[in-house]
Amino acid sequence: MATHVTAVINQKGGAGKTTLAMNLAAGLATRFNTVLVDLDPQGSALQWASQGTTPFPVPVKQIQGKWDAEGLRQSFRAFRHVVLDCPPSLESHASIQALRACDLALIPVLPSPVDLWASLRLPQEIDEARRLRPQLKAYLVLNQMEPQSAFSAAMTEALADFGLPVLKSRIRRRAAFRNAALDGVSVYQMGGRGSPAMADIEAIIKEVLTK
Ligand SMILES: Nc1ncnc2c1ncn2[C@@H]1O[C@H](COP(=O)(O)OP(=O)(O)O)[C@@H](O)[C@H]1O
Ligand SMILES: [Mg+2]
Repeated sequence: MATHVTAVINQKGGAGKTTLAMNLAAGLATRFNTVLVDLDPQGSALQWASQGTTPFPVPVKQIQGKWDAEGLRQSFRAFRHVVLDCPPSLESHASIQALRACDLALIPVLPSPVDLWASLRLPQEIDEARRLRPQLKAYLVLNQMEPQSAFSAAMTEALADFGLPVLKSRIRRRAAFRNAALDGVSVYQMGGRGSPAMADIEAIIKEVLTK
């Protein structure tokens, strides 16, 4: 089977890229041979995986030197799923190549219009990447949702302006996501404490990654 590449991307820092990438990779790893590639020079995914005493359930790799989409696929061809944790910049070599390499782009966003406006260039970049890979799928993923949060009119408008589909599955704001990072595990390793967070990630996998 061909390798499937998911890029978790957004130029906005703090949107939840690393949180989504790490937990998504852990969820995929329960089904498929999966690797996470840390493309952020800050190395937060690597840092996460090295926390605590329990090993992270997915190998976390970096790529050295210049690389391109073809080279990335070649390097990780032994894996069924590759998850790319992108840096908070669209100009970086890593982000540009990640968009060229991926089958699926997941764009975590916080449910605030101001956060969305900060990411308004992304749809253009996705269009650009689609010229080379017309089959590229891209979705916004609402992160840090509060159960009671109804969308403001401004938020609904900002989402529509974005022009990209929004996943039905949303990620709630949960302490388990923070604790997983502190303990160097994913929410899949946290037992009952992690199960609501795990259900958020499972819903995303079922919606876009296991069809
Ligand atoms: N759904 C969530 N619930 C609780 N905390 C979250 C959630 N998503 C992200 N966080 C926290 O928000 C901060 C930024 O998330 P992070 O994944 O590092 O974003 P990015 O990689 O886009 O910069 C981190 O402290 C992370 O633990
Ligand atoms: Mg990050």
